[in-house]
Amino acid sequence: MTKNFDVAVIGAGPGGYVAAIRASQLGFKVCCIDDFTDENGNPSLGGTCLNVGCIPSKALLESSENFEKASHKFSEHGINIKGLSVDLATMLQRKNNIVSQFTGGIGLLFKKNKVESLHGRGRFVEKLKTGCRIEISNGDSQESIKATNIIIATGSLPRPLPGLNIDNDLICDNVGALSFTKLPKRLGVIGAGVIGLEMGSVWKRIGSDVTILEAMPDFLGTVDTAVAKEAKRIFTKSLGLKIITGVNITEVNTRKKSVEVVYESRGNKEKVVFDKLVVSIGRVPNSGDIGAENIGLVVDEKGMIPVDEHNRTNVNNVFAIGDVVRGPMLAHKSSEEGVAVAETIAGQKGHVNLATIPWVIYTSPEIAWVGKTEEELKESAASYRVGQFPFSVSGRAKAIGETGGFVKMLADTETDKILGVHIIGPYASELITEAVIAMEFEATSEDIARIVHAHPSLSEAVHEAALGVDKRYLSL
Ligand code: FAD
Ligand code: NAI
Repeated sequence: MTKNFDVAVIGAGPGGYVAAIRASQLGFKVCCIDDFTDENGNPSLGGTCLNVGCIPSKALLESSENFEKASHKFSEHGINIKGLSVDLATMLQRKNNIVSQFTGGIGLLFKKNKVESLHGRGRFVEKLKTGCRIEISNGDSQESIKATNIIIATGSLPRPLPGLNIDNDLICDNVGALSFTKLPKRLGVIGAGVIGLEMGSVWKRIGSDVTILEAMPDFLGTVDTAVAKEAKRIFTKSLGLKIITGVNITEVNTRKKSVEVVYESRGNKEKVVFDKLVVSIGRVPNSGDIGAENIGLVVDEKGMIPVDEHNRTNVNNVFAIGDVVRGPMLAHKSSEEGVAVAETIAGQKGHVNLATIPWVIYTSPEIAWVGKTEEELKESAASYRVGQFPFSVSGRAKAIGETGGFVKMLADTETDKILGVHIIGPYASELITEAVIAMEFEATSEDIARIVHAHPSLSEAVHEAALGVDKRYLSL
């Protein structure tokens, strides 16, 4: 018998599972279809983020940073450790345990919220008078369901480098890069973006010699230039990452236990040999094989599903959220779109402000930002003022021994409205929320300057940057 649902969600990543839970809270009969399986072939909810993205990468970043601190920073505190070593198997097991706690937790949340979890690949079969029929394939078994509203949350996949075969052994994408069972002596990374920097940091900190090859002439081209410059300085000088920009990879030759990469850079032909190679050159929307043609759903040439400001597709009652639609490919953006769409279906006013989505790169120091970069403001001929405060003068930053980086605030010259905040420094991931709240409430730099910030705290640097917009620094 065909099951009927008010809402069917395809994909149980941070977009899909949150959408399903919120829709159920709003009184709908909901199912969530997902095809992800773990390395043992068992269904595992949570999508890229929980299984092979945000959560496992942050677990490894934390472990490797602890090792780095114990190796190089504890001695300043008078803490001396002899015979320090990394037990990689334990580090990976800790990461796997964290992942399974969270992926298993989604199953419990589904039960609690009465979301029916259906394992298999979902595909549109036909458009009905209201809603659609979807077929779910799981190995040899097939099931067909009908739903009045459908939310596509199928996420993204690693962008392939033409001619390169990812085996997740010698040549890896994010999946392999999170699970090296033996430390590669020489690790190559193609792409100095978010994954390249985060995974490069992990393996460098515990002993790999890491070289990152980036196609663009500028490092972190989309990040505020002052932040990108400081980041490159710290990542190359303090961490020891080798970052080569402006490269054109011409050949990748796989040997038995190594990979040779040939590239051109500034007119020279270079050759490097690595024990493992990570390819992290962006991600592409995962919209292939969802049966879009069967319901007349428009998918653009890049695989992106065009949507309006309420995430409606061109097909009535069919919505799309997360990495498969425009906007940043970030977990929190996907989740908020999931909530907004469930509320829109319920006749409420669901909405996500794409202009105030925070970005965080979890390197050390962390990089976080919201709003416009100084370069974007210059390009649009906007009139702005800048306040910039270094962590080297922050009492709390000194106490925790993390004095690199700064907070930079950009505000409109006339209205003083905050246009962007860029942070490189300790706990930037946490500090950025103050800026996001401020921008959501259309605050001015003066508003932040007049708010009492606890002392000693890292947030005082945000306060000082706000004072600095009006050249009223108190500690500079
Ligand atoms: P996904 O999480 O990709 O989930 C989609 C799900 O749908 C998957 O389970 C997929 O198997 C399933 N699916 C696809 N097609 C079908 C189908 N036809 N039928 C059934 N199921 C289907 N973002 C952050 O905000 N912070 C971070 O720290 C961060 N770290 C990251 C680290 C790495 C290494 C990577 C790769 C990504 C990271 N991201 C991070 C990005 C983040 O993971 C994505 O933005 C987020 O997972 C997107 O959520 P989503 O729900 O749109 O899709
Ligand atoms: P990215 O877009 O961040 O970086 C890709 C880099 O590869 C760019 O600098 C690009 O210029 C470079 N590149 C492209 N083609 C190349 C080539 N042929 N040779 C050399 N370099 C090339 O993509 P990445 O790192 O793969 O991450 C994908 C996405 O996943 C991110 O954009 C982000 O949305 C998400 N993510 C978010 C994280 C976070 O929020 N902390 C962490 C990891 C991923």
